[in-house]
Amino acid sequence: MKRIGIIGATGSIGIQTIEVIRKFKNLYKIEFLVSYSNYEKLFEIAKEFNVKKVGFINENLDIKSEEFKIYKGKDEILELIENIDLLFVSTTGTFSIFPVLKAIKNNINIALANKEVLVSFGKIVKNHLKNSNSIIIPVDSEHSAIFQLINPYKEEFERIILTASGGPFLNLTIEEMENVSVEDALKHPTWKMGKKITIDSATLFNKALEIIEAYYLFDTKNIDVVIHPQSIIHSFVQLKDGSLLAHLGFPDMRIPIAYALSYPQRLEKPSTITHPYDFEKLTFLKPDFEKFPSLKIAYFCLEKLSYYPTIMNASNEIAVYSFLEGKIKFRDIFKVVEETLNRIQKEDIKDETLEDLLYVDNLSRTIANSIVSEIQRNCK
Ligand SMILES: NC(=O)c1ccc[n+]([C@@H]2O[C@H](COP(=O)([O-])OP(=O)(O)OC[C@H]3O[C@@H](n4cnc5c(N)ncnc54)[C@H](OP(=O)(O)O)[C@@H]3O)[C@@H](O)[C@H]2O)c1
Repeated sequence: MKRIGIIGATGSIGIQTIEVIRKFKNLYKIEFLVSYSNYEKLFEIAKEFNVKKVGFINENLDIKSEEFKIYKGKDEILELIENIDLLFVSTTGTFSIFPVLKAIKNNINIALANKEVLVSFGKIVKNHLKNSNSIIIPVDSEHSAIFQLINPYKEEFERIILTASGGPFLNLTIEEMENVSVEDALKHPTWKMGKKITIDSATLFNKALEIIEAYYLFDTKNIDVVIHPQSIIHSFVQLKDGSLLAHLGFPDMRIPIAYALSYPQRLEKPSTITHPYDFEKLTFLKPDFEKFPSLKIAYFCLEKLSYYPTIMNASNEIAVYSFLEGKIKFRDIFKVVEETLNRIQKEDIKDETLEDLLYVDNLSRTIANSIVSEIQRNCK
C-alpha cells in the first residue's frame, strides 16, 4: 500500500483526493491529514480512514482530542513529514513551502496541486531537488497534461501552450468589468473550485501563476496561452517538427489527482470515462492582454524571474482577499499587483535563500495592503 500524507485535506482538491482514495482503499493508506482549522471535516475524514495523526496549520486553534494525536503549527506539522511514500499538497497560499522542502529532504515524492509554492519559491525548490530522489508530480490539470505529454519528448519539444477557459468575464468589455460583483466573479463557467483560485480564474492571474509554475516544472520560457472556453483540452505540447500534442477530457480534477496518486501507474476508471462524441465544438482564441493585464505581468515576471514572481503571487493574494472582502473593485486587483511590483525597492533585495524570498513575500504583502488602503481612501 502507498503511504500518503495530505496537507489541505478539507479543500476542494483535498476532498476530491479523498474521493479517489475512497474508491481505491486497498491501494492507499492515509498516514496523516492536515487542514488550516476545519477540525470538524478533518475529524470526519480521519474517522472514516482510521487516521490517527491530524494537523492544523493554525497554531492558535483551540482544539483537543482523545481520539487523535494533534499536531499544531509549522514545527509540529513538519514532524509528520516522514515515513510516507507521497505527500499530497492541496493547501492554498505559501505555507506548504515548509512541508515541501522537508519532503524533498526525506526523498519523498510530492503530488503538488498548490501552485503558489512553486511560483514564489521555485528557485529554492529546484535547488533542493538537485540533492534528492524525490520528484514533483503536478496536479494542476494543465501541468498534469503537460507532464504526461512531454515525458517522451523532453529533448524534442519546442513550446508549451497552456489553455485557459477565460473565466466568467471573457466576453465583457473593460468598462463592463469595472463594476462586477464578488458573486459574478465566483461563477466559474467550467470548473468548481475554492474561492481564491476561482477569482484568479476570473482575472486570469490563475494562468499567470501557471506560466511561472510551468517554467519551474518544465524548464522552458517558451510558454504560450490560448483561450479555450470549453476547458476540454487541458494543454498542448508542440514538438520541434510542429506536431501538436494535446490532452483531452471533461473538466474533472479527479483524473489528474488519480494520476498523481498512482504515478507511474494508472488507476482503473477513477472517474467518468469520456469519448470524443461527448465533446461539443472546441474553440480557441488569442488572449486579450489589455483586458487581462495579469498575463502581461506574468510574462514580465517570467523574463525577470528571481523574486519577481514572489511579489506577483503575494500581492495578488492580498488583492484577491481584499476584493472578496469588498474593500476594492475587481479591476483594482491588477492595480494592486502592478503597483506593488513598481514600488518595491529592488536594489537591496536578495533571492538566494528561502529567508530572502520569505522576506520579499512579507514585504510585498505589506506594500499591497497599503495600496489597498490607498484605493479605499480615494474611493471615499
Ligand atoms: N480547486 C481546483 O480545482 C484546483 C485546480 C488546480 C489547482 N488548484 C490549486 O490547489 C490549491 C488548493 O485549491 P482549492 O481550490 O482546493 O482551495 P480551497 O478549497 O480553498 O482549500 C484550501 C485548503 O487549504 C487550507 N487552508 C486555508 N487557509 C490556509 C492557509 N492560510 N495556509 C495553508 N492552508 C490553508 C484549507 O483548510 P481549512 O479547510 O481548514 O480552511 C483547505 O484544506 C490552490 O493552490 C489552487 O490554486 C486547485
